[in-house]
Amino acid sequence: MSAIESVLVENRVFPPPEAAVKGARISGMKAYEALCAEAGQDFEGFWARLARENLAWTKPFTRTLDESNAPFYKWFADGELNASANCLDKHLGTPVENKDAIVFEADDGAVTRITYKQLLARVSQFANALKAQGVNKGDRVIIYMPMTIEGVVAMQACARIGATHSVVFGGFSAKALHERIIDAGAVAVVTANYQMRGGKELPLKAIVDEAIAMGGCNTLKQVLVYMRTATACNMVAGRDQTFDEALEGQSTECVPVPVNAEHPLFILYTSGSTGKPKGVQHSTAGYLLWAKVTMDWTFDIKPSDVFWCTADIGWVTGHSYVAYGPLAAGCTQVVFEGVPTYPNAGRFWDMIQKHKVTVFYTAPTAIRSLIKAAEGDEKVHPARYDLSSLRILGSVGEPINPEAWMWYHKHVGGERCPIVDTFWQTETGGHMITPLPGATPLVPGSCTLPLPGIMAAIVDEVGKDVPNGSGGMLVVKRPWPSMIRNIWGDPERYKKSYFPEEMGGTYYLAGDGAVRSEDRGYFRITGRIDDVLNVSGHRLGTMEIESALVSMTELVAEAAVVGRPDDMTGEAVCAFVVLKRSRPTGEEAQKIATQLRNWVAKEIGPIAKPKDIRFGDNLPKTRSGKIMRRLLRSIARGEAITQDTSTLENPAILEQLAEKL
Ligand code: PRX
Repeated sequence: MSAIESVLVENRVFPPPEAAVKGARISGMKAYEALCAEAGQDFEGFWARLARENLAWTKPFTRTLDESNAPFYKWFADGELNASANCLDKHLGTPVENKDAIVFEADDGAVTRITYKQLLARVSQFANALKAQGVNKGDRVIIYMPMTIEGVVAMQACARIGATHSVVFGGFSAKALHERIIDAGAVAVVTANYQMRGGKELPLKAIVDEAIAMGGCNTLKQVLVYMRTATACNMVAGRDQTFDEALEGQSTECVPVPVNAEHPLFILYTSGSTGKPKGVQHSTAGYLLWAKVTMDWTFDIKPSDVFWCTADIGWVTGHSYVAYGPLAAGCTQVVFEGVPTYPNAGRFWDMIQKHKVTVFYTAPTAIRSLIKAAEGDEKVHPARYDLSSLRILGSVGEPINPEAWMWYHKHVGGERCPIVDTFWQTETGGHMITPLPGATPLVPGSCTLPLPGIMAAIVDEVGKDVPNGSGGMLVVKRPWPSMIRNIWGDPERYKKSYFPEEMGGTYYLAGDGAVRSEDRGYFRITGRIDDVLNVSGHRLGTMEIESALVSMTELVAEAAVVGRPDDMTGEAVCAFVVLKRSRPTGEEAQKIATQLRNWVAKEIGPIAKPKDIRFGDNLPKTRSGKIMRRLLRSIARGEAITQDTSTLENPAILEQLAEKL
């Protein structure tokens, strides 16, 4: 049975264990319903209360929501605050100040701890160094760093001085980095000489150099380099400085700069349905509020918790649930540099045991690969480790198939830990639809119900609600504080991408299909409705990959990219390519396919490499020249073509494209 089919017939229900309900911040469904009712009756009052209770304001806001220029919503717009002060300074003088903020485990297993007080000093010193480099409030700073304490320090330091950071995932290519430096108009890049992953030393600074050498980075003045390893790297005099050089003589005290609630805290690029990545712009107050509140609600965070989110800071999950949320919540968190399979596939379980992790948050792809490893080698099975510290498990980034859910529940959670399957997006800033560990009865494969205050619904093309049991488009009918504010430099695209006119222009369109169950009204995400793929929880635009392929101008004439389901990665990239030379076969085809894969890795990053490549003399097109993607999708899935092909100009091509390499 495929994952999708088994979700459709899913009828197992797991009520929250009594131990999880007792003492939970939201204890029982009645408590959840009461919060939903509060938001329903006095929407603005509900959010204003949360913002007053959870954030420290240097200037209190008087107005909660400004919808006068919808969909450019403003929240708490006359208030002022600082995000870093809300994560660090606020704990001074409380028992939190001397507890570990971060327990960092390096790729090689070395552990470094840093208390809240020490972290504040580090962030302050780095903030002073940024100021000394001429970085000012409102400037953009690119962060291209490995998972390290320093990566979090760099983000917090930007927030402290009101600079807007844009973190670029360390697996992205020089070209992707170059595009982002230019689009953001960055004045500085913070990077490392190398990063360590799975025992390998991989370059970062060399990629920064390559990106800058592509030209046009006219706003860029400084490059700050964290020496992660002892290996020297190229340094350009007058432009590049090591962290040690930049920090030398800088004070460990830095007064946080108050910014307006709507001040852009960060820009994070993500894939959309066109070729160019979107710079998702987030606010300061609304964003931070939701990062903090969802830590409390979704993860039921208590002062004694050891929280571990395995996401990289290059993704939104690593923003909300590594760099900001856990610190705002005042818990201890584990930050991990390496990969789940090094030195072996028991790494996660070993770390949970060693650091006594209580709340663990990871992606279905990681779970699936660890299931496979554990089934093949009993030594890396979670049963071999003491995971009794765990009390809550989380899943994020893609649908979790019920088989993986059940394994996670049984073998990692010991059948006692609720699993919060959190649905959200780069654009939403924090969780949207998720179970609450002390309240919601769980159904494997379902993200269950929207959080209080999140007015999620499933509608048709014109914004009309569809009945439970019928599929439709996932929308959010009312704004919420942590929502995307703009696409950096492209307000038109913001409006067009997310607020369809046909639905009235104010509903937020998530870009996902969804269906609610008939019995409980639980949401289940059925997948993207646009040209965005989700490979191992990473978002990739098919058009981005197509443009990468056709930019190999000597070789490629035309390319079309679609997704197909994959047991391990959720979805896999499938590319159909027409070459400028004759169609290759056999070994030669393999060789060219490798060349194309490497090219895509160089243009975007290794995560975008097509798994399947098929060569054709042409692509299936209508008489007017339009590529018939639905046929390509069927071919990619290995399905028989049942669709109408009468409008197809060249039906014979289908057979050729169905041939695997
Ligand atoms: O398709 C949905 C899927 O991931 C997309 C968002 O990707 P990104 O912006 O990279 O953020 C990922 C981390 C929040 C969504 O449009 N997605 C995310 N979480 C889930 C999910 N699909 C199903 N279930 C989830 N829990």
